[in-house]
Amino acid sequence: MQFAGSHILSVGQFERSDVESVFEVADAMQPYARRRKVTRVLEGAILGSMFFEPSTRTRVSFGSAFNLLGGEVRETTGIENSAIAKGESLYDTARVLSGYSDVVAMRHPEVGSVAEFAAASRVPVINGGDGSNEHPTQALLDLYTIRSELSTQGRAIDSLRIAMVGDLRFGRTVHSLCKLLCLFDGVSVTLVSPEELKMPGEIVEALRNAGHSVLESDAMEEGISSVDIVYSTRLQEERFASPEEANLYRGRFRLNQQIYTRHCDPNTVIMHPLPRDSREAARELDDDLNENPNLAIFRQTDNGVLVRMALFAMVLDVVGQVDEHARDVSWYTGGRFT
Ligand code: CP
Repeated sequence: MQFAGSHILSVGQFERSDVESVFEVADAMQPYARRRKVTRVLEGAILGSMFFEPSTRTRVSFGSAFNLLGGEVRETTGIENSAIAKGESLYDTARVLSGYSDVVAMRHPEVGSVAEFAAASRVPVINGGDGSNEHPTQALLDLYTIRSELSTQGRAIDSLRIAMVGDLRFGRTVHSLCKLLCLFDGVSVTLVSPEELKMPGEIVEALRNAGHSVLESDAMEEGISSVDIVYSTRLQEERFASPEEANLYRGRFRLNQQIYTRHCDPNTVIMHPLPRDSREAARELDDDLNENPNLAIFRQTDNGVLVRMALFAMVLDVVGQVDEHARDVSWYTGGRFT
């Protein structure tokens, strides 16, 4: 695909070569994201950051990525703080905001809303999550992390064995990740969920049509044995009709160090898109895994900045100019990226 000037709305837009291009540019962003160099390549550009649903890492990492490239961020958070609460349409909001920005990153609770906004926007729009539908930049950073974790074992994404655990019905990150995995070869996917929260049928079919092996199960201990990656997910309680309905599934699948030691292969990488629910009733990924070197959740969040920097550079067509605007960092940077 041509990235320059394009909206990024769904992983369905990508060919395998596109994903590999994003990863190549993300690799090149390491000196900037790791605070070894500064670039001002997007000096003067403005990111419109519009998050109409709660977010910590997607919103802030989009903003940080844009700032690290030298651009400025203007943001609105929450429908209640925007004119949408006064009845303004997504069309009007898009027409207005795209006059103030060079690119927009947007999250909205309704499926298809970001695409609707993009259709009226005069600048590229990047989907930061639309309801239970998709979260394409999360899937890219997840796959980038998988590639990075497997490379330390001399492995590639092809032939990956992955177990996805939890709320696979409403979890948009696993929807997008499965669609991306369809671009690779020989993947084995184990889908562990309650019957009522299974992965949508069309995504399972897409995996099978791509030639992948798919096993659906509600037995976590079996599902997480003999895989390279366990990808845990939070119960998406905000998508349920009531807290009582969500409570039927809360805490159903919990991974802790004892279960990991008993059932997982020694090098199994643990991932989660975050936020994990650390409240006692949930704890799908226990805090006692925090010192486990195979817990990759904070490497995922660091990688999110790289991938989002890459997308901005590609969509705004400055990949070849990033290093021209570089200088060394002069402030204390500590050891947080070592
Ligand atoms: N992974 C993710 O989308 O996190 P936030 O909801 O904090 O953005």
